[in-house]
Amino acid sequence: MVYQIKWSRSIGEIIASLLVSCFLLSLVYFYISASSGALNAHERSAGLNVQTSSTRGDGHFISENIGRENMRNKNPKTTPVLSCDLTDFRSEVCEIYSNVRIHGSSSSILFTSEKTVSLEANKTWRVRPYTRKFDAFAMEKIRAVTIRPLVASTEAPKCDLYHNITAVVFSSGRYVGNFFHDFSDVLLPLFITARQFEGEVQILISDMQLWWIEKHRRVFNQLSNYEIIDFNKENRVHCYPRAIVGLYSHAELTIDPSRTPNNYSMVDFSRLMRRAYSLERDFAINLVERSKRKPRLLIIARNHTRKIINVGAVVDVGEELGFEVVVSESSFRTSVGEFARMVNSFDVMMGVHGAGLTNQVFLPTNAVLIQIVPFGNLEALSELDFGKAAANMMLKYLQYSISEEESTLIDIYPRDHVVFRDPMSIHKQGWAKMGKIYLRQQSVKLNVTRFKPFLRRALELLT
Ligand SMILES: *[C@@H]1O[C@H](CO)[C@@H](O)[C@H](O)[C@H]1NC(C)=O
Ligand SMILES: *[C@@H]1O[C@H](CO)[C@@H](O)[C@H](O)[C@H]1NC(C)=O
Ligand SMILES: *[C@@H]1O[C@H](CO)[C@@H](O)[C@H](O)[C@H]1NC(C)=O
Ligand SMILES: *[C@@H]1O[C@H](CO)[C@@H](O)[C@H](O)[C@H]1NC(C)=O
Ligand SMILES: *[C@@H]1O[C@H](CO)[C@@H](O)[C@H](O)[C@H]1NC(C)=O
Repeated sequence: MVYQIKWSRSIGEIIASLLVSCFLLSLVYFYISASSGALNAHERSAGLNVQTSSTRGDGHFISENIGRENMRNKNPKTTPVLSCDLTDFRSEVCEIYSNVRIHGSSSSILFTSEKTVSLEANKTWRVRPYTRKFDAFAMEKIRAVTIRPLVASTEAPKCDLYHNITAVVFSSGRYVGNFFHDFSDVLLPLFITARQFEGEVQILISDMQLWWIEKHRRVFNQLSNYEIIDFNKENRVHCYPRAIVGLYSHAELTIDPSRTPNNYSMVDFSRLMRRAYSLERDFAINLVERSKRKPRLLIIARNHTRKIINVGAVVDVGEELGFEVVVSESSFRTSVGEFARMVNSFDVMMGVHGAGLTNQVFLPTNAVLIQIVPFGNLEALSELDFGKAAANMMLKYLQYSISEEESTLIDIYPRDHVVFRDPMSIHKQGWAKMGKIYLRQQSVKLNVTRFKPFLRRALELLT
């Protein structure tokens, strides 16, 4: 609980100051605290709407907390009419396989089946369809969708529209606009959940914001051949043979192929990105092949916190090693497509931990990502966020931890301060304190002598 309370307050501050990218680490921080066992009993009962055995009806038609094999089982004799997994750490998902009737404006989903007679009468299931279930602040404003089997078919509302495809219902939720969360919370989970239908799926979004849909329109167009429905505003009853409520999610910014319907992986996701944005390069430069072109290095600059204050010196070293170097801020002013095409033209991308590194999804295969980790014991968090994704996309990944001398914190705190002596004790004071010092007060001044071997290593990795 301690983490939760402090964390919420700090998020408020951050949103107020529009330092959106700052909170990236906070969430992972919370995630780590929670997943490493800090999830106490109260959080468990508040967060997990676990269905108990009494809801299972006769055991044939409702399956809850199903394993992967059940999910893949397409045998009509054994397919349940409703199958929910409400115990996962990241998300709640229900799949309905029979006569689904969706009334968006009342957030209700009904279904009928000859088998529903065996369901517990009037039992409803509640799903909060956003993938940060472990994060109380994120979930607070997510509208729950209720799912209810209809006992008598006469009770069923009339279908205003019938679609012979699958419906996927989810919330675009809390953190949209932060590039990391756009991908980690929504686009990747949507890919995991909907890619299997090869476009024959209708997307219904709760808490929808049109500007955000437009921002990622090309990705949605890759996943669905149909128009997107603004769930909360839709007053007509839409009917489908099948629906998935909620999105599957495996980890921050990545996919576990063994848990996707067709073994889809981050490699498949980056292929989809290339198609969506017509990215030209599938592979990074191979220096063995002696192309005339120089290898290209992109430095993702941050403008507010965690800046590289001597970026000019880094550019010089890069050029000295034979790179063509470009410094760019991933800016809200640029369209995603424009920035994606630019990123795709590089062979190495480097930057200090932050949402801008999400742009790695546009890099060509075999390209190198160098993540600069600020001072303060942030290595594990940084790797969890971006390192895993890079490896899973078949990028090469290097992580550079700055030394005390490279941190601007030495201009603020004396060298014998606890900030330097014992970062873990700051972490233990909760995220607000940790984030204030190590994320918001800190910028980096790279020691180019110390950093240069990493750029050299990146060159080696391009052969
Ligand atoms: C279920 O709900 C309907 C309508 O709300 C009601 O008429 C019916 O009596 C309820 N059934 C049970 C068993 O509670
Ligand atoms: C729905 O589509 C399936 C094939 O995807 C087809 O077999 C079935 O007949 C269709 N049903 C209706 C009612 O159109
Ligand atoms: C998924 O991968 C596993 C292991 O690599 C393989 O045995 C299985 O056949 C694959 N399944 C599909 C549907 O490609
Ligand atoms: C970065 O910040 C400076 C001053 O804070 C501002 O002048 C500049 O326009 C910003 N750059 C971008 C790309 O937003
Ligand atoms: C920069 O790094 C080099 C190599 O690790 C080291 O010898 C040197 O002392 C560092 N310079 C500063 C100013 O810390």
